Amino acid sequence: MKLIDKNKDSAAKVRYSPPGRVSGRRLGGSVTLGLFLGGCANIPGALDPKGPAAAEIATLSWLMFGLAAVIFIIVMGILAYILFWRARRETAGETEPNPTLDRGFIIWGGIVIPAIILVALFFFNLRTMAAIAAPPGSEEIVIEVVGHQYWWEVHYPDQTVTTANEIHLPVGRPVQLRLTSADVIHSFWVPELTGKMDLLPDRVNSFWLQVDQPGTYYGECAEFCGIQHAKMAFVVVAEPEEQFATWLAQQAQPAPEPSDELIQRGRQIFLGSACVYCHTIKGTNATGDLGPNLTHLASRRTLAAGTVENNSGNLAGWIIDPHSIKPGNLMPPTNLSGPELQALLAYLESLE
Ligand code: CUA
Repeated sequence: MKLIDKNKDSAAKVRYSPPGRVSGRRLGGSVTLGLFLGGCANIPGALDPKGPAAAEIATLSWLMFGLAAVIFIIVMGILAYILFWRARRETAGETEPNPTLDRGFIIWGGIVIPAIILVALFFFNLRTMAAIAAPPGSEEIVIEVVGHQYWWEVHYPDQTVTTANEIHLPVGRPVQLRLTSADVIHSFWVPELTGKMDLLPDRVNSFWLQVDQPGTYYGECAEFCGIQHAKMAFVVVAEPEEQFATWLAQQAQPAPEPSDELIQRGRQIFLGSACVYCHTIKGTNATGDLGPNLTHLASRRTLAAGTVENNSGNLAGWIIDPHSIKPGNLMPPTNLSGPELQALLAYLESLE
C-alpha cells in the first residue's frame, strides 16, 4: 500500500516546458491536465465522503463553491460591461457620469447583497455544525487517541488494547473518539470521513466517527507540530462487525511466545537492549510508554506513522537508522551486528 506522495506520478505526467518557452495555451493545458490527473490519482478528498459527517461537510463545500462560481460570473460580467461598453460610450461623450447610479451600485453591490449572502452562508454553516455535532446513533465503542511527535497512540480502554497509527472500527456504527496530546497540539483529520479536531495537551476533545463503507482510509495530522508534521499519518480501517471483533480480540492478546530459536534470540536482544525503556510488548517485561506499543507490530500496515510500508527491509532500516527515514523523530539509532539484527527482525515480525 502506497500512502505517501500519491500525486507524484500524476505531476510527473505533465509535460515539462523549458522556462521562457511556455505558451499560454500549453500552460493552461498543463494546469488543467494536472488538476484532471490529480482527480484520477485516488487522492482521498473531503469531496468524496464515506461517512455522514463528511457528507454534510461536502454538501456545504459544494454550496459555497456553487455560490462563489455564480458570483464570479456576475462580477466578471459587470466588469466586462464597464470596460468594453460603458467606458467607450463615456469617452465618446454619449453618456454623462451618473453619481446616483454609482452610489446605488456601491451600496447594493458592495454592502447589501454581500451582507445577505454572508448571513445566509453563516446559517448554512450553523446548520452543518449542528448536523455533525452529535452522532446518528449511540456510541458503544470508545477509542482514545493520543497525539505524539510524530505518531498516534490508539487505545481501546474497555478492551485494554493499545496500538499505534491504525484505528479499526466496525462499519456503519458511530464510535466515540477521545483526543488528547502528549506534547504539542496536533489535529486529527480523515478527509473522507469527518472534519478536523485538535488534540490538545492536558485536555480531552470528544469527537465521533462513523464510516459507511468498509475500507482503509488515509488520515493525517492537520496542525503543524514540528519537523515531521508531514509524516504523521494514520489509517482508519472500517471492517464488518465480525472482522472487527476478531481484530480486537486478537489485539487484546499478549504477544505470541517465540516459536523457534531465532525468534527466541531476537526476543532476548530486544529485552536486553534500550528498546524496553520506550516500547511495550504485552506479556514481556518491556513496559516503556514513550514510543508505540509493539505487541502486535507485525499486524500493522505501516511503520513510523504511515511513513513507510511495514516490511522487513523498512523495519531493518528503521531500527538501524530511523533518522534517515524520518529526521527529527525521537527514536535513537540502534547499534546491532548483522546476526543480531536478523534475530531482532525475526522476533518483531513474529508479533502478529
Ligand atoms: Cu502532529 Cu502535525
